[in-house]
Amino acid sequence: MRWRLILAALVAAGASTVAVAEPGAAAPARDAYADILPAPVSARPERGAFTIGRHTTITAGPGARGVAEQLSAILHVPVASRAPKGGNTIALAVAGRDQGDESYRLDVGPGRVTLTAGRAAGLFAGVQTLRQLANGTSIPAGHVADAPRFAYRGAMLDVARHFFSVAQVERYIDQLALYKINTLHLHLADDQGWRIMINSWPRLATYGGSTAVDGDPGGYYTQAQYRAIVAYAAARYVTVIPEIDMPGHVNAALASYAELNCDGVAPPLYTGTDVGFSSLCVNKEVTYRFLDDVIGELAALTPGPYLHIGGDEAHATSQADYVTFMNRVQGIVAAHGKRVQAWHQVVTASPLPTTVAQYWDTTNVNPQVAAAAANGTGVVLSPANLAYLDMKYNDSTPLGQDWAALIEVADAYGWDPGTYLVGAPTSAVRGVEAPLWTETIRTSADIEYMAFPRLPAIAELGWSPASTHDWAAFRLRLAAQAPRWQALGINFYRSPQIPW
Ligand code: ACM
Repeated sequence: MRWRLILAALVAAGASTVAVAEPGAAAPARDAYADILPAPVSARPERGAFTIGRHTTITAGPGARGVAEQLSAILHVPVASRAPKGGNTIALAVAGRDQGDESYRLDVGPGRVTLTAGRAAGLFAGVQTLRQLANGTSIPAGHVADAPRFAYRGAMLDVARHFFSVAQVERYIDQLALYKINTLHLHLADDQGWRIMINSWPRLATYGGSTAVDGDPGGYYTQAQYRAIVAYAAARYVTVIPEIDMPGHVNAALASYAELNCDGVAPPLYTGTDVGFSSLCVNKEVTYRFLDDVIGELAALTPGPYLHIGGDEAHATSQADYVTFMNRVQGIVAAHGKRVQAWHQVVTASPLPTTVAQYWDTTNVNPQVAAAAANGTGVVLSPANLAYLDMKYNDSTPLGQDWAALIEVADAYGWDPGTYLVGAPTSAVRGVEAPLWTETIRTSADIEYMAFPRLPAIAELGWSPASTHDWAAFRLRLAAQAPRWQALGINFYRSPQIPW
C-alpha cells in the first residue's frame, strides 16, 4: 500500500491535481457523472469503479501521445506503449472521422478506461471530464458521450489596464482549460498601456507600456514571451486572439509616437479610467503604415485565424471616419492572411464576410447587429450585463465595476446564447465569451475572485446542450467544484446562491 501513500502525497502536493475526497467523509458520494461541469451531452453511471494502482498504465494510439502525457502528469500514471499483463489501462485513441473537433467518448469500467475522440482536442476535453470524475485513486464507472454546442467558448483578459505576467496568464489558461474554454482573447492595448513589443515601433511597448491604471507598474510581453503564451495555450487546445483596440482606446500609442496624432503632438501617458477620448488620425497615411506594421507582426505571432481590432467606444472619431477606418483596417488584416474579430460596432461599417462581431451591449435588442447576423456576420456573445466578469456580484463586492449590472451567478447562467439576440439566427452565433476588464483587478487572486464561479457558468452556456440548462442542477454541479478549486489554490466568491 506504500504506493498509495506516495500517490496521495503527490496528488495533494501537485499544482494540477485531481480532487481528493475528504478523508472519512460519511455521506454517500453524489453521482460524479451528474457533477460534470460543463454538463455533457449524455452521462450514465454504472456500478463499480476503476482503481488507479501500481500496475495502471496509460496507452496512447497514434495522435494521442501528447494528451496521454498530460494525463500522465495529472494522475501520476506512466504512459506505456502497450498495457502490461495484469495491469489495468487508461486507453486514449484518436479514432472515428465522423466525430467533430472536440467531441469525445469516455467509458470507465473496473478494468479499463477508454477515451476516444476524432481529434486530440476532443481527447483533451475528455481528460478534463476524467479529472472531474477521479476521486483520489478511484474513477467511478460509467459512460460519457459529449460534444460542444458552440465552437467558440472564450475568455478575455485585459492586460492593458493592468499588466499580468506570462506566469499569471498561463495560470488563467490552466483554469480556462478545466472548463473546456478554447479561446483566450488578450486585450493587448488600450489608453493606459501597450503590452506587446512591436519591433518596427518599439516605443509602443517601452514607453506606451510603462504604466497602468492608477500609475501602477506597467509592463509588456517581448515577442518571445508572447509566443510562449500562445504555445502554452495551444498545448491546452486554447487559441489566443490578440486585440489591438482601435481607432479609439489608443492613448498609449499616441503618447509613444507624435506622428500618429493629427496635430503631430504626443499626449501624456494616461493612468485614469475614462473611455472614448482618444482616436487614431484617420486621414493620415502614416496611420495605415503603422497598422500594417503592427498587424503584420501580430499576424506572424498568431497561429489562430483571428485578430481582434477592437472598434468599440470610438467616441472621439466621427462616424464617417469610423467607417472609412474600420473598412480599411479589415483589408489590412485580410492582406496579412487573418480574419477580423471586432466589438459589435463594426457592423456600422461594412463587415467582411469573414468578420466576427463580438456583442457587448446590455440589451438583447439591437436591430443593426441582428441584421448583420442575418446577413452572414458571425456573432460572439458577451452581453456586458450577463457575461462581463468585471461586474460586481452585488453592492458590496470589493472589486469590479457596476455600470452594466450587478451579476450574481444565477444572472451569469440565466440566458441562452443561441436565442439571446432578437432577430439574429442561431446559426450566426459562434459562441460566448466572458471578458474580464482590469481597471480594478491587480492580482491573480483578483482575477480568480471575479471569474469563479461565473466563468464556469459561461463555459457551460457555451459547451452544454440547451436541453441540459437547469439552474437547480447547475448550482449543485458548481458546488461540487469547490473542493477542486481549493486543491488548486483558486480564489473564489462564495456566492450565497450556491450550496457550497
Ligand atoms: C467594451 O466593453 N467597451 C467592449
